[in-house]
Amino acid sequence: LKQLMGSQGATLPPHVLIFPLPIQGHVNSMLKLAELLCLSGLDITFIVSEFGHRRLLKHTTVVSRFERYPGFRFQSISDGLPDDHPRAGERVMDILPATKNITGPLFKKMMVEKNLFASDTRRPITCIIADGVLSFCGDFAEEKGIPLIYFRTVSACSFWACFRMPELIEAGEIPVKGSGMDQIVTSVPGMEGFLRYRDLPGFCRVNDINEPKLHILKSETRQTTRAQAAIANTFEDLEGPIVSQIRKHIPRIFTIGPSHAHLKSRLAEKKDENSILSGSFWAEDRSCLDWLNAQPPKSVIYVSFGSITVVSREQLLEFWHGLVNSGQRFLWVMRPDSIVGEDGKNQIPIELEEGTKARGYMVGWAPQEEVLNHEAVGGFLTHSGWNSTLESIVAGVPMICWPYFADQMINSRFVSEVWKIGLDMKDTCERKIIEKVVRELMEERKEEFLERAENMAKLARKAVSKGGSSYSNLEALIDYIKTMII
Ligand code: UDX
Repeated sequence: LKQLMGSQGATLPPHVLIFPLPIQGHVNSMLKLAELLCLSGLDITFIVSEFGHRRLLKHTTVVSRFERYPGFRFQSISDGLPDDHPRAGERVMDILPATKNITGPLFKKMMVEKNLFASDTRRPITCIIADGVLSFCGDFAEEKGIPLIYFRTVSACSFWACFRMPELIEAGEIPVKGSGMDQIVTSVPGMEGFLRYRDLPGFCRVNDINEPKLHILKSETRQTTRAQAAIANTFEDLEGPIVSQIRKHIPRIFTIGPSHAHLKSRLAEKKDENSILSGSFWAEDRSCLDWLNAQPPKSVIYVSFGSITVVSREQLLEFWHGLVNSGQRFLWVMRPDSIVGEDGKNQIPIELEEGTKARGYMVGWAPQEEVLNHEAVGGFLTHSGWNSTLESIVAGVPMICWPYFADQMINSRFVSEVWKIGLDMKDTCERKIIEKVVRELMEERKEEFLERAENMAKLARKAVSKGGSSYSNLEALIDYIKTMII
């Protein structure tokens, strides 16, 4: 009884444990979910890696922001990697076995020792919302009989393609055969006709079906079905047909995205929309907003490849030449750790100095949401990470996609072929092509892309407004979480 009633005698709210994979993109969207649940009065324990927690404390006001919610607590845990691990590039994938082998047992011990985070003012955890790739959370929830919901931070299209991996392997569509990168894939229902082998999530690019990364992803994806429900950071007007396919296997899937716009909409109802703060792991350089203020409307292409991508010096130079030669204005995020084997000091090559100084601006990390919503921005050259894609969609900014790995490969195909709000230049990195696509997006087909992007933005905003699909699904999710403690 003590665990159901606080010391004041009032009934205590549900207590949800939220556990993202500890990398920037996943933490960002699950922090948004955490805040959405806090707004409904639920108690939250949010698990963050020690590495991520230090960064959040150093570079953001996220930690103090959540002090406004008395029911919210951060709890840190090791991500299983040494402190000096780069956590970038392909090596970011090391985090999957590290969390499984090291964080998983630590998590279990912590949950038991801390008595499921129960106290005089908090119930023991009543529901776990775990990142869909953390199967050890599912093992623990099953063992203890705690209700489990998986949160898929990636697009529904990526999740669905990964879900179909066994059928893709069975049909001989993975691994690729000969020169078959452009081979149309037929084993993913709902994507027939336009999905090529090269568009499949990056994990499918293997020569040997015994490759461990293929199997980790296959099993982590399929095990989603054991949860009582799933949450997807997408919206019905964007990915409804694909979500319907997933519903055949996971009937209770709540589409509540785009989570950042949803949070904004809920805070606006409380007259609080200006207080959203980002959860960046890097310090934001806000000087780029002053630079943008001095540029004409829709004239700037914003260039950022997210928190993980690394490029070689050769690739960097191809982009640089392409951007300068396109004659367009550009704002470019060059993370200090984003160039292979270099320390972050970026000398401007002499031949690019004039064009860069005249039309370009560079920062180490930008306040991305604000940048995309700035009226001077008319295009986004992106790596097609799911958060970046959603942020661009909500801001009505057309994209040029240069996917790096993972889900980005399929997100970019949907941007260009299904939603038609951008161009996909995957698997190429040549200055002439870059120059051509930048001109196409920013000049030749500018109006057409802007119009379609604005239409999609309207649908996104509708989804997260009162009565919209994501808005109603969040209410249903919260009601569902409440039923778990009766
Ligand atoms: C990773 C994967 O790469 C991605 O494919 C997956 O969908 C989510 O996890 P990441 O590469 O970091 O994420 O990309 P993305 O999902 O786009 O997230 C990046 C986040 O960092 C965005 O929310 C973006 O707004 C933010 N960001 C990026 C900044 O705040 N400033 C920047 O300068 C760049």
